Amino acid sequence: MLKGIFISLEGVDGSGKTSLKEELLGHLAVFDPLSLREPGGTPISEKIRNLLLDTSNEDMQARTEAFLYASARCQLVETVIRPALQQGKMVIADRYIDSTLAYQGFGRGLPLDFLEQLNQLSTGGLRPDLTLLLDLDPTEGARRRAQDAPDRLEKAGLLFQNRVRQGYLQIARQEPQRICVIDAHQPLEMVVKNALQEIQQLLTKRGWYHPRA
Ligand code: TYD
Repeated sequence: MLKGIFISLEGVDGSGKTSLKEELLGHLAVFDPLSLREPGGTPISEKIRNLLLDTSNEDMQARTEAFLYASARCQLVETVIRPALQQGKMVIADRYIDSTLAYQGFGRGLPLDFLEQLNQLSTGGLRPDLTLLLDLDPTEGARRRAQDAPDRLEKAGLLFQNRVRQGYLQIARQEPQRICVIDAHQPLEMVVKNALQEIQQLLTKRGWYHPRA
């Protein structure tokens, strides 16, 4: 087992992952966590991110999309995440393997077993110790993001986002020991409190001591 601790954040667009991550980075500063976002986090992965989110790439095929996310992730895992975990660091990732199942699987309709295999190949089987899933009605997510210009995935619409949400909940039911569902309709401070409770449990289990807990 790798020495570090790997936490991923998941949820539909506008579910507040980024705000939660900022809060967690503050609360967990004593551990000097490494903060990442997907797709991205390495020069190659950031270039792939631009391709993926570019609204002019309207004809991108679902499998092309899946392979590009997998390529960006492969580069990030091999050059950043695995080395950090080997050194015993805490890694907090905004999105990881469950995004592929939820978006390309439940959202785009690609077969889940193909995507499971793709995730396995692109990560060498590296799974988070804990995944915090922020569950939110996509209508509320869209309301919260109203001022931002939508990227290619966000333009896929509410029906798509609803399938993604339901997909996430199904994935969480299948892996309750890893994935913790947090109600993201709550005020951010409650979301943060719930998240910190889960993280504290993991830290205790792994024998990490939090001076402020
Ligand atoms: P981003 O602007 O980072 O959105 P967010 O702040 O909501 O994470 O864009 C990432 C988009 O890529 C987002 O719409 C989800 C999508 N995505 C996938 O479809 N599959 C994946 O495997 C990953 C990592 C992201």
